[in-house]
Formats: sequence, C-alpha cells, structure tokens
Amino acid sequence: MSNILPHGGVLVNRVAAGAEREALLEEAKSLQQLVINNWTVSDLDLIGVGAFSPLTGFMNEADYRSVVERMRLADGTVWSIPITLAVEPAKAAALAAGQRVALVGEDGVVYAVLSVESIYNVDQKVEAVNVFKTDDVEHPGVAKLFERPSTYVGGPITVLNRPVPEKFNEFYFDPAETRRIFAEKGWRTVVGFQTRNPVHRAHEYIQKSAMEIVDALFLNPLVGETKSDDVPANVRMKSYIALLENYYPQDRTFLGVFPAAMRYAGPREAIFHAMVRKNYGCTHFIVGRDHAGVGDYYGTYEAQDLLRSFSAEELGIQPLYFEHSFFCTKCGNMASSKTCPHGKEDHLTLSGTKVRALLRDGVCPPPEFSRPEVAKILIEGMAVEPVNG
Ligand code: ADX
Repeated sequence: MSNILPHGGVLVNRVAAGAEREALLEEAKSLQQLVINNWTVSDLDLIGVGAFSPLTGFMNEADYRSVVERMRLADGTVWSIPITLAVEPAKAAALAAGQRVALVGEDGVVYAVLSVESIYNVDQKVEAVNVFKTDDVEHPGVAKLFERPSTYVGGPITVLNRPVPEKFNEFYFDPAETRRIFAEKGWRTVVGFQTRNPVHRAHEYIQKSAMEIVDALFLNPLVGETKSDDVPANVRMKSYIALLENYYPQDRTFLGVFPAAMRYAGPREAIFHAMVRKNYGCTHFIVGRDHAGVGDYYGTYEAQDLLRSFSAEELGIQPLYFEHSFFCTKCGNMASSKTCPHGKEDHLTLSGTKVRALLRDGVCPPPEFSRPEVAKILIEGMAVEPVNG
C-alpha cells in the first residue's frame, strides 16, 4: 500500500464539520469580513484539505520571509512558494493580531475563519526576484503578484464552506481520498504527473516510461487559474478522459484534478508541485523539460537542478527526471537525446504556438505529436472556447 508520509509528517485537516462548523458560521456573522478572490479561495481550500500540508493557514511573516529567502518554512521544512493572503492596506489597518476574521468569496460565501497571527508589509520586487527569478511584468506570475496589495495577513484557518466545481466533479479528490484509493488498489508506488496542457505524445512517453518502473500513474492536471492562452481546463479534461480510455491501462492509471492556480514559477514551482503530490499520496513525481516554465525565464533543466539540490530525505518523494522528448522519424518512435543518435532534422518538434494555429484552423497535428482522439477534442473545444495567442 502507498503509505508515503505527507510533507511535514501529518496530513492537515482544517475543514470544520457538524456542530463545530455551525458554531463557526454563527461566529463569522459578527466578525470583520475580508473579501477574497477565486485564487485565494482555491489556496484556502487546498490548505483546508491538507494538499498544502504542513501549512495550516496563510503564511505568517516568519514563514513568508523564510520561504522567500531560503525555500524553507521558519522551522526548516522545505517549502518554495509563498501561500499568502493579500489585503488592502486600509482593511489590514483595522486588524490586530489575535483577532478572528471571516474570509468571504466574491460570491458572498463565507469560506473560512482566520485567526490573525501577523500583519506585515512585503517588498513584492524581492518576492518576485526570489520566487520567479524576475520582476518583469510580462511574466504572468509576476503580473499576478504585482496586482495584489503588498500587505499580507497570516494565520491558521478553519474552512467552513468548500468551493463547488462547475464541471467534472467526479474527478475532484482530496488527499485523504487519493491516499485511501491508492491503498485500496494495492499500489505501493504511484507517480504523479503535473500538467497545465493537453497530454501530447511527449507527455505520454515520459508518463509511460515512468509507469514501467512504478505501480501506477496519477494524472493530476492543474485546473485552477491559468494564463489566458493556455487551453481551458474543461477542454483539457475531455482530452485526458479520451486519452486514458484509448491508450492507457485502466487498472494502472488514475485521473484526479489539482484545483490550484498556476504560478509559472518554474524551478520553485516544481518543488511545490512535488511536495503537494506527496500529500496526495504519490511516491514519485515526474519533472521533464522546463517544468512549470513560461517564455524563456528558466533553463530547460533548471527545475531538475533545483530539486537535486535538496536531499532525498527532506523531499520525501522521488523525482523522476526526463530529458526533452520528441518523435524521431529515423527511430520511428518517441525518444530523447538519451536514447536517440539522430540529429534535429529527424526530430518532430512543434511549438505551442504552431500547434494552436493548426488546431484553430481545424487541422489535426500529426499523430506523432498528438493522438487523433486528443486533437479532435482540442479542435472542437477551441471552436467553443477560443484560446488566444
Ligand atoms: S507544466 O507547466 O504544467 O509543468 P506541461 O504541462 O507542459 O507544463 O508539462 C508537464 C510535465 O511534462 C512537466 O514535468 C514538463 O517538464 C514535462 N514535459 C513537457 N513537455 C515535455 C517534453 N517535450 N519532453 C520532456 N518533458 C516534457
């Protein structure tokens, strides 16, 4: 059975139920309210269900500074991405440590109660340069960061209501559930796969290479906020279902979503992605080329190098590294520079922009690039939900 320990040793559960929830909902009525956007609701929910274990709330100042500066929580536990609650300075000025506040979504739902531990101002440039390695506002993660106020409020939360998925409910599983399911299936080793894209042949190749050495694949696409030229999650979900049905062994694959926002923080996000998949019960995690990267901000294997700089013990999940993969026309199969002796002229590589252009024109990319069942869904999906870029 898959019994990998959650990050920090204990799977966090901050979701209130029954009488406790009722009492907190009652208390929330008299508390000061902070309105939070969908991104923060998603962070809050992932904290609540333990996907972000060992976090029990939004980061306080000590954890935030430690994470930004040295990729560790104040107690030394590896953590690479700040998970913070940004608050308008005027609202923050009315708060004091020790106070409790209600976190309310833009839909009016009271999602959580937070016990204020610290209220602090940050230098977002420093955060950007440390986390994203750039303060260029063309970087989508940096742009999002600079949109937020630079006053943060930290402290533990208790979740009172969970966001309800609009579609594909059946693919939402909390870490406690995936852990139970993996164990029930008798899987001792499970490799997690992060993606914000449709699964193309290169993804399939590295997943299946990994599947040769572990018991099962957890296909765990990120379905939270992504940048506008990424393929929408609803279209991607249809493509994953079709791909698994047609090309993967049903008894060795499991599809469940990761409802987090994409940060595009490359190397640092790779660490974050790995820790979270450990919490979902994965023993292994795939990191290929330019993991969680965008544009030319990160080196092709920088995420792999950063992961290698931490010890196996402190990561607690085994990263599986893959080289840039492609279809080689001479080999007649998928390959990488580790397995193929031929030159670039024999390798099929299509840029994301080129693929989007083909799909937009209703043209299937070659089967060596994308399975026809996947391409068909993407073409249909783009007709309904146009993708820019
Ligand atoms: S991500 O932003 O979610 O990481 P993407 O969906 O493109 O992006 O990639 C998912 C995983 O597959 C990442 O680990 C990435 O490094 C890997 N990957 C994507 N394309 C390739 C490729 N051609 N060769 C090797 N690995 C790849």
